Amino acid sequence: MKKIVIAIDGFSSCGKSTLAKQLAQKLGYLYIDSGAMYRAITLYFLRNHVDWSDTQSVIQALEQIALSFHRDPETGLNEVYLNGENVEYIIRDLVVAEKVSEVATIKEVREFAVKQQRHIGSNKGIVMDGRDIGTTVFPEAELKLFMTADSWVRAKRRFNEMVLKNPHVTLEEVKSNLDARDYMDTHRAISPLTKAADAVTIDNSQLTMEEQLDLALNYAVK
Ligand code: DC
Repeated sequence: MKKIVIAIDGFSSCGKSTLAKQLAQKLGYLYIDSGAMYRAITLYFLRNHVDWSDTQSVIQALEQIALSFHRDPETGLNEVYLNGENVEYIIRDLVVAEKVSEVATIKEVREFAVKQQRHIGSNKGIVMDGRDIGTTVFPEAELKLFMTADSWVRAKRRFNEMVLKNPHVTLEEVKSNLDARDYMDTHRAISPLTKAADAVTIDNSQLTMEEQLDLALNYAVK
């Protein structure tokens, strides 16, 4: 079957990556988490005290950053590396989550990430999730999914994941971080989160993972 590009966009914590991983596995496609790239860049900026309000500092810092994805042989999933270090897990910390949407508004950061995303997807057979994949990175993608869910449902899902790593985290903290990120992601000047005109909406507030996968697979093999 002809390989296609599947672009999945949507709000934070509405299961984009879960669906993207499952679709990639079913179809034998590559899965790329574009948010992990913005998170890894943010981690670099935080660790190196980069003043990201200053364009020159951002440009210089980006020159020092090499991002790559490598497959974990045990899980079969791609993990993100920052200058050769596996940062897949550390980039999920709230410290990074609190700053990533701000860093993702920076023009130079977006250009840096989008260039690499297009290169990775040039051979098709890819599922990429993010905020601007169907609108900016791959406007020609054969299938575009726009995912959404009730914001409390999303906060509870993310809280359940985070509390395992950090028992002090509260649901209110997670919800307010999500709300702030949703606001910034939809209101930024460059490539804000919007539904592409030709995207299909999946609201998974009431869907099980199996139901949402079936739905998406139906679109993918149409
Ligand atoms: O999908 P995520 O929560 O890991 O994404 C982290 C942040 O990165 C999110 O707040 C917005 C930003 N992002 C983006 O601007 N564009 C993308 N394609 C992916 C993520």
